[in-house]
Amino acid sequence: MLHLAQARQIKNITFKNRIIKGAMSEALANREGQPNELHFGLYDAWAKGGLGCAISGNVMVDFRAKNEPGVVVVETERDLAQLTQWANLGKAQGMVQLIQLSHPGRQCPKGLNKETVAPSAVPFSPMLATTFGTPRELTEAEILDIIQRFAESARICEKAGFEGVQLHGAHGYLISQFLSPLTNKRQDQWGGSIENRMRFLLEIYRAVRAKTTENFIVAVKLNSADFQRGGITEDEVVSVFQAIDAEGIDLIEISGGTYEAPAMAGVKADKRKPSSIAREAYFLDFADNIRKQVGCHLMVTGGFRTVQGMNAALDSGACDFIGLARPLAVEVDLTDRLIAGQDVRYAVKPIKTGIPFVDKMAIMEIIWYAAQFKAIAQGKQPNPKLSPLKIFLGYAKSNVKAMLQGRLNSRKQA
Ligand SMILES: Cc1cc2nc3c(=O)[nH]c(=O)nc-3n(C[C@H](O)[C@H](O)[C@H](O)COP(=O)(O)O)c2cc1C
Repeated sequence: MLHLAQARQIKNITFKNRIIKGAMSEALANREGQPNELHFGLYDAWAKGGLGCAISGNVMVDFRAKNEPGVVVVETERDLAQLTQWANLGKAQGMVQLIQLSHPGRQCPKGLNKETVAPSAVPFSPMLATTFGTPRELTEAEILDIIQRFAESARICEKAGFEGVQLHGAHGYLISQFLSPLTNKRQDQWGGSIENRMRFLLEIYRAVRAKTTENFIVAVKLNSADFQRGGITEDEVVSVFQAIDAEGIDLIEISGGTYEAPAMAGVKADKRKPSSIAREAYFLDFADNIRKQVGCHLMVTGGFRTVQGMNAALDSGACDFIGLARPLAVEVDLTDRLIAGQDVRYAVKPIKTGIPFVDKMAIMEIIWYAAQFKAIAQGKQPNPKLSPLKIFLGYAKSNVKAMLQGRLNSRKQA
């Protein structure tokens, strides 16, 4: 039997195989951030495709801080019925489901929210500053409030029946902004030394544990590196992994990069060691290393495309689970086929319209894949040949209207 096909237990929860769908923002919620029939259709299709586990796209813990239109928000029990329905359809197929809880901090496009907050008021590079504004520095009271928001959202997810949550600590989102000295310039107990910079993550973890029961899985997605000069160092990253492991985290997903240096999508792949390129996955060398430092379950996401590559990663002991994202947006039944020994067919490539300023905006990946998710959710076939330009023009048309309306509403509220 392929290693890939072997079951694994975390606490009292069985993962029927080693394949986990990595978080992908579905962009399917309504303006109020509610999950709906489209989420059910999509996750039902993935569950029926044989996945051992699916991690949801990032779900916001604060309605005032959305990272994109169409994102789900869980801050009260308002949508408990829909969340329960979502959780149940995984159970019906034996697919474990974790909700990825997130706060985007500074990575919120201009115009979407009334204001943006972050550890410090650090502006973006000139290229990204056209899309993302300079945030306001969080007060300590606001930091404590956000920590409790993660815990409350996790409590609601458990009540709905999800097997666990994953804290989004990677890709330049708020937790990762606290970890990085480039975005955290604070002089108080939340900034400065790495012990202070990881306090936000550890306090969130403890608050989540305090509000959930013993068998609830708490996972975290962390960067192996930010791929930015002056960012968190390798030794500091290792100390963060060790600290969260010592706290009792169940699973760490290894990724890398931020909006400013998108290594999670392989963009910095040229900087990888030759051995890593040969092994297809972007962050396997790091996993090899960290495996010796931590005892929790490890998952590596990014770049896996062949059964041989996935099995070799598991056989080597570098990780316990294989994370797959983009291939599952186009091949819904991929898990069953991998377990039958067939490789990924979809050739993952950057999604480009050919219009330089649009292609720099990092929005194309989200909206092109969202179109695939919508098709799957409606029982249609995904289309790898879908024109990025057509998708962008449709998005521009509907979002200019939505953003103007959103601004109008927030002015009315103010
Ligand atoms: C459309 C899209 C949305 C994504 N949304 C998220 C997200 O919400 N949270 C997250 O941690 N990663 C997100 N990712 C990153 C993926 O989880 C994954 O790390 C990355 O795509 C690399 O894996 P792959 O090579 O198998 O696609 C997203 C990726 C894509 C393409």
